[in-house]
Amino acid sequence: MPHEPVTTKPIEGQKPGTSGLRKKTRTIMEPHYLENYVQSTIDGIGGVSGATLVVGGDGRYFNDRAIQVILRMLAANGAAGAIVGQGGLLSTPAASHLIRKRGTAGGFILSASHNPGGIDADFGLKFNGPNGGPASEAVTAKIFEATTKISAYHIAEAQEVDLGTIGTTALGGMSVEVVDPVADYAALMESLFDFPKIKALFTSGFRMRFDAMHAVTGPYATAILEDTLGAAKGTVINGTPSPDFGGGHPDPNPVWAKTLMDEMYGDDAPDFGAASDGDGDRNMIVGPHQYVTPSDSLAILAAHAHRAPAYASGLAGVARSMPTSGAVDRVAAAQGIECYETPTGWKFFGNLLDAGRVTLCGEESAGTGSDHVREKDGLWAVLLWLNILADSGQSVADLMAALWRDYGRCYYSRHDYEDVESDRAHAVMNGLRARLASLSGTQVGGLTINFADEFAYDDPVDGARTEGQGLRIGFEGGARVVFRLSGTGTVGATIRMYLERLETDPEALSQPAEEALRPVVDAALALSDLKALTGRDGPNVIT
Ligand code: G6P
Ligand code: ZN
Repeated sequence: MPHEPVTTKPIEGQKPGTSGLRKKTRTIMEPHYLENYVQSTIDGIGGVSGATLVVGGDGRYFNDRAIQVILRMLAANGAAGAIVGQGGLLSTPAASHLIRKRGTAGGFILSASHNPGGIDADFGLKFNGPNGGPASEAVTAKIFEATTKISAYHIAEAQEVDLGTIGTTALGGMSVEVVDPVADYAALMESLFDFPKIKALFTSGFRMRFDAMHAVTGPYATAILEDTLGAAKGTVINGTPSPDFGGGHPDPNPVWAKTLMDEMYGDDAPDFGAASDGDGDRNMIVGPHQYVTPSDSLAILAAHAHRAPAYASGLAGVARSMPTSGAVDRVAAAQGIECYETPTGWKFFGNLLDAGRVTLCGEESAGTGSDHVREKDGLWAVLLWLNILADSGQSVADLMAALWRDYGRCYYSRHDYEDVESDRAHAVMNGLRARLASLSGTQVGGLTINFADEFAYDDPVDGARTEGQGLRIGFEGGARVVFRLSGTGTVGATIRMYLERLETDPEALSQPAEEALRPVVDAALALSDLKALTGRDGPNVIT
C-alpha cells in the first residue's frame, strides 16, 4: 500500500515484561510511542509480509484507536489479512483460539489484563505467536532489541476501518475480516464440556453469580451461561465492557471483586460464584462462605478433570508456576503423572503444552488453563468447575473438604507490597539474595530452614535456561516463602511474598489461612527485613 516511511528514533523503556508491554495509557498515546513498538514487534518477528494476523483487545480506553493504528501498520508492512473481533473486542483466550483455529502467524492483543483502564490508568500490548501463546523469551528479546534500533516505521494513509460491522473489507491490499468475538470461542467450550449436564444443573435450581467486572467476558459469559446453559437472567453481573471498567479494578480477587465476595459470604449466597479479569484470562472461584485459592482450584481441577468429556481419558501431566502452592503436585503424584514447575508467566507453559507433556496448568495469580488454547482461560475454568459440580453432585465445600482430607491442605496466601520505591525493593531482594547461601540449616522464628535458593528454569523441551525467577526459602515440615518482584506493574515496584504451609493433621484443616501461616509470615519478615527496608507496616493487598 502506498505510504512514506515515517522517520523515528528509539524510545527508551519499551521492554516487554511478564506479559507484553504495559504502560500508562498517556505514555502509550505519546507521539510515535505505539507505532515504534508495533513496528519493532513486526521487525522482531521477522516481518508480516503475506501473513494474516488476529487483532483484538479488552475494550479499555484507547483500544479502538490503537487497533486502527495497528491495522494501518500491518497493511503498510505487507500483511495479507487481519482478523479483528467486532468492536475491537477479543478476550485473550478467544484471541488465542482464533490464532490457532485460523492458522494465522499470530496476533496482537491489546490489554493491560487486570490493571485499571482509562486515560490515567494502564494500557498494554502483547504479541502471541502462531501457537496462540505469548511470544517466547527469545522473541520478546528480539522485539526489545528492535525498539532500541528503530529508525522508521510504516503506516498506511487510510480511512478508519468500520469495526462495528461483521464482514470483510479491504485496507489497501490487506483484507480486514471483522468477526463475532464470541461465536468460535463458545463453540470450543461446547466441544470440551458436558453442556447438557450443566444445563440440567441450572434447571434443577442451582444458582450462580458471575462477575464480569465491566470487562471483556461480559458478552462471553452472558451468551454461554445465560443464553446457552440456561442460568437465570442476571446470573452475569457487570456484564457490559466499559473503557474504564466502571471505574473499577478488573482483578478477580477477594479485594477487588468485593461485590461478589459480599454476596457469596451473605445470608442468601448462591451455590457458586466466579469472576474474571479485564481480558478474560484470569478467574476467581468462590463457594458459599468459601473462597477457593487459585492454587487449590488448580488442584481440584486436576483431581476431577476426567469428569469433563475433553479430559475423560486423563491428563498427560500438569504444570504450575513456581510460586503456586504444591497442592497440585500432590494430586499429580497420586495420579502418577508428571508435575512441572515453571517460572511465573504463561509463556513458560507453551512448550510443555505444545509437546503434549501437560494438559492442565495454572498459577497462583488466578490463572488456569489447558491445552485447548495457549493462554490461561477464565471462563474455561468456570465451566470446568460447573462440569465437575454437575457431574459429582457435590458442593464447593464438599469438594474442598475432600481435597484437603485426601491430600493435606496447603495453606496459602500472597502478601503484596505495592508501589514500593524501586531502589528499596531491590535492596530487599539483593539483601536476601546475598544471604541465601548461608541460610540452610539455620533457624528463624522457631522454623528451621531446609533450603534457600534463587529459582532458575531449564525448559525440558528446548533447553532454554531462565534465571533470576524468585528467591525461595523452604522450611522443615513443608512450609515455604517465595520473594519475587512483579513484572506487570507500570509504576514503582511491587514485592510479592508468597506464603505456604502444608498441613496433614485431619483436625487442623479448617483454620483461617492467615492464622495458619502466621509463623511463616513472621519468619519471612525477619529474614528479609522487609518492613525496615521499605518503611511499610504491612502489605497493601492480601490474596
Ligand atoms: C500475567 C501473566 C501471568 C503471570 C502474571 C504475573 O498475568 O499472564 O502468567 O502469572 O502476569 O504477574 P506479576 O505481576 O506477578 O509479574
Ligand atoms: Zn488477564
